[in-house]
Amino acid sequence: MRPILIDTDPGIDDAMAIAFAARSPAVDLVAITSVAGNAPIATTTYNALSLVSRFELDIPVARGAGCAIDGVASAPPTFVHGDDGLGNTAPVAGHHELATESAAELIVATARRFPQQLAIVALGQLSNLALALRLDPSLPELVAEVVIMGGVFGFAGEPGNVTPLAEANTHGDPLAADLVFRTAWPLTVVGLDVTMQTIMRAKHRTAMQRASDTGAYLYDVSAFYDRFYRDRHGLDGFPVHDSSAIAYLLDPTLFRTRRGALLAHCYGPSRGQTLFVADPATHTQLSLAKRPLHNACSDVRADDVLALFHETLKAS
Ligand code: BDR
Ligand code: CA
Repeated sequence: MRPILIDTDPGIDDAMAIAFAARSPAVDLVAITSVAGNAPIATTTYNALSLVSRFELDIPVARGAGCAIDGVASAPPTFVHGDDGLGNTAPVAGHHELATESAAELIVATARRFPQQLAIVALGQLSNLALALRLDPSLPELVAEVVIMGGVFGFAGEPGNVTPLAEANTHGDPLAADLVFRTAWPLTVVGLDVTMQTIMRAKHRTAMQRASDTGAYLYDVSAFYDRFYRDRHGLDGFPVHDSSAIAYLLDPTLFRTRRGALLAHCYGPSRGQTLFVADPATHTQLSLAKRPLHNACSDVRADDVLALFHETLKAS
């Protein structure tokens, strides 16, 4: 089983993604690190501990960054994830103790524990990954794969979800995102281009509720999120953001990817906007020629992602 570490800001869809990974027989979820985003850091850390207890996972959980690496703290989107980050379901504290290391330290230690084997899946702003890269510049050689949910590249004409240009995770810490994009490691970005195509409708939610105890819990937690996307966006359900990154890790054939240089805008009204350039050497005015090429998801077999999610929860 492939070891994976999830860096996350739970968050309703983060909770679903953690369950998806924890219940998959194909990966071994070995650690979780928290970051601010869908709620303040104290809340996302509390939620990570609560979820680990609920899903009966015996793994370390470390607290991470409370703001972007430039010190900017975004206001939490309580209207999307509720005041408690988990849809106002009042998550219980559980019995899990917080690790003594910071998130960045746990990322580095876990990569050293599983050299060239670990997959890091980042489901929030990328502050912890940036801090881990600063802590150990050899991290890129230690990890087998990095998959992040974030960004939007215009493959499907999708706008940003926190500004007209930017997706929430890259907007939360664009300097960290750009550092992750500039790093030469095996990186795949799962952005709104594909997550907005994968909609969990009422029939999928009901099937999730019936699949298992974990599914029934996620049904309750996702009610608030479902209402937000129906009322505010007129969607017939809600988009599968963070679980799409897990789905990519479990079965990359469900996605079409494009290879190119990636960039995050860091300042001003375009803060957090992400750019994909397939042929950076020909666009000399962009000065991207030295950037490594990465995979960005451009299309998805959405029904198959939803089926994989359902089968995984059902089997648990
Ligand atoms: C991303 O932002 C957060 O609200 C979600 O958990 C997801 O990681 C979607 O833009
Ligand atoms: Ca998230």
